[in-house]
Amino acid sequence: MTALSGHRILLCVTGGIAAYKAADLVRRLRDAGAEVRVAMTENAQHFVGATTFQALSGQPVRTSLWDEQAEAAMGHIELARWASAVVVAPATANTIARLAHGFADDLVTTLCLATEAPIAVAPAMNRVMWANAATQANVATLRDRGVLIIGPDAGDQACGEIGEGRMVEPMAIVRALSGAAA
Ligand SMILES: Cc1cc2nc3c(=O)[nH]c(=O)nc-3n(C[C@H](O)[C@H](O)[C@H](O)COP(=O)(O)O)c2cc1C
Repeated sequence: MTALSGHRILLCVTGGIAAYKAADLVRRLRDAGAEVRVAMTENAQHFVGATTFQALSGQPVRTSLWDEQAEAAMGHIELARWASAVVVAPATANTIARLAHGFADDLVTTLCLATEAPIAVAPAMNRVMWANAATQANVATLRDRGVLIIGPDAGDQACGEIGEGRMVEPMAIVRALSGAAA
């Protein structure tokens, strides 16, 4: 028996440089006993390919709302219902803003709006984007709404700066989810 056994985790990957860490996160979640399915934004696919997530999760990956085969049976609603938890990691400033305002104009935001499962968000962005009053207000809105905000960490950033905004390490996300599930 492992910390997340029996859990069905929908991992939503958005378009930040930390998307490469989401590949490791899939492995760590599965090692913890969870079943994992992955949905990606269009922008996330500039950073990591769907094939990587398909291989690591052992499941088909959704990359668009407009998948005729999957949507013949309202696949996005089925996926939103399937999840026992939703994790957005990495979560860009853009997706955080759109979640805070209830947008549903792509697959990831639609899934988040259509699920009754708890949602966790792991922000990842440049320190100035993170410190921006708009981002801070959006994060506060999500937190007030019961969304679990995991991180971010401080340290070296991919842009060469040092500060707060790095995505927390995958194992820290697994631990936060295990704690929330306990
Ligand atoms: C090389 C590169 C790295 C980026 N890294 C980040 C990032 O770490 N965090 C972030 O919030 N946005 C980052 N962006 C900007 C996002 O990709 C952009 O805001 C995009 O619209 C996000 O789309 P999504 O939220 O739908 O995935 C980056 C852009 C580029 C070109």
